[in-house]
Amino acid sequence: MFIQRKNYLNNIQRFRVSEGRDLENGLRLDRNEKVGFWPKTMMSDIFNNQPDWFLSTYPEPSNLYSKISNYINVKEEELTLTSGIDGGIKTLYEIMTEPGDLVGVLSPTYAMYRIYADLFQVNLEEIEFKDDLSFNVEEFEKFLIKRPTMFFLPNPNQPVESCFNLKELEEMAKQLLSINCLFVIDEAYHLYGAETGIPLIGKYENVVVARTFSKGFGLPSIRLGYLVSNAQNISLLAKTRLAHESNSLSNIVAEYVLDNIQIVNEYNANVIISREYTKQFLKKHKIKSYGNFGNYLLLDLLNNNKAINFVEFLKNKKIYLKGPFSGSFSKYVLITIGPKEDMKRFYSEIEKLNLN
Ligand SMILES: Cc1ncc(COP(=O)(O)O)c(C=O)c1O
Repeated sequence: MFIQRKNYLNNIQRFRVSEGRDLENGLRLDRNEKVGFWPKTMMSDIFNNQPDWFLSTYPEPSNLYSKISNYINVKEEELTLTSGIDGGIKTLYEIMTEPGDLVGVLSPTYAMYRIYADLFQVNLEEIEFKDDLSFNVEEFEKFLIKRPTMFFLPNPNQPVESCFNLKELEEMAKQLLSINCLFVIDEAYHLYGAETGIPLIGKYENVVVARTFSKGFGLPSIRLGYLVSNAQNISLLAKTRLAHESNSLSNIVAEYVLDNIQIVNEYNANVIISREYTKQFLKKHKIKSYGNFGNYLLLDLLNNNKAINFVEFLKNKKIYLKGPFSGSFSKYVLITIGPKEDMKRFYSEIEKLNLN
């Protein structure tokens, strides 16, 4: 092999993203995306408003920085654009860690936390949820004693949903600051009910909040997110960005939704109504489900076989779910929640299933 640098990379598996889903006819309940569609005219409306030079120039992100800064009420120096939260996580590993450092995450959680730990040769401690799906405080306390460099807390987490309020986040920030540990609050699922940790960035120098346009804003396609922290941290975190940290097409779509935030809020209000309805619906069909702060529910299918069959049965109907998960979570599957009318196909297949 010609490339003989970083030989440890040979042991890391990466796959091209295609999930083999039928996007035309399928019902996507597997990736916590927006289940519904944006209006067909949205793209042309956005494009028609651009100046003649729009595609001929390098991106000009100033308007977007200004709009995000107004939206979340922080200074522009307190944020930097990233390629989704994914890009933000990569930046944090890149800047905050040396090989051999210790980083903490929850388990199970978003898969890229582990991938980047391997890529940056960092030791990853996974703080596993208890069997009753609660956050393992004892394991967290033990982890702190090991002098970690960084701790990632998706708030809420997925697929198992822990969710902390601002007061609890502040306690964690203090505790982590006292051992010199960076506290990254991943707010991928902001807008579904969880409190934000952004007020902490001015109070605790170790706090970074990660946000995205992928979930509550319904735009995973544009690969856009941002990190929020105090200006000194952000100045460092922005050092390794590409010459252009985002592209013009993504920027204008993000600006459009920030200018029309009521569309986003109305959609999410419907998702929350549907989440509560779906819980009741599943209960009626003897399926226990968990979730109060995201656009997803974790379903308990009682054992791994039933979970596999459930996912397969629905996959054959082109209804895609996530899971079952591994180890002690192998009886669970995750479903994304969209507005009720978009979930009808799912409800009607569950009605046909005899789960007793
Ligand atoms: C907890 C969590 N964090 C981050 C991400 C990544 O989101 P993005 O599309 O912004 O990279 C996801 C995506 O599923 C997620 O579930």
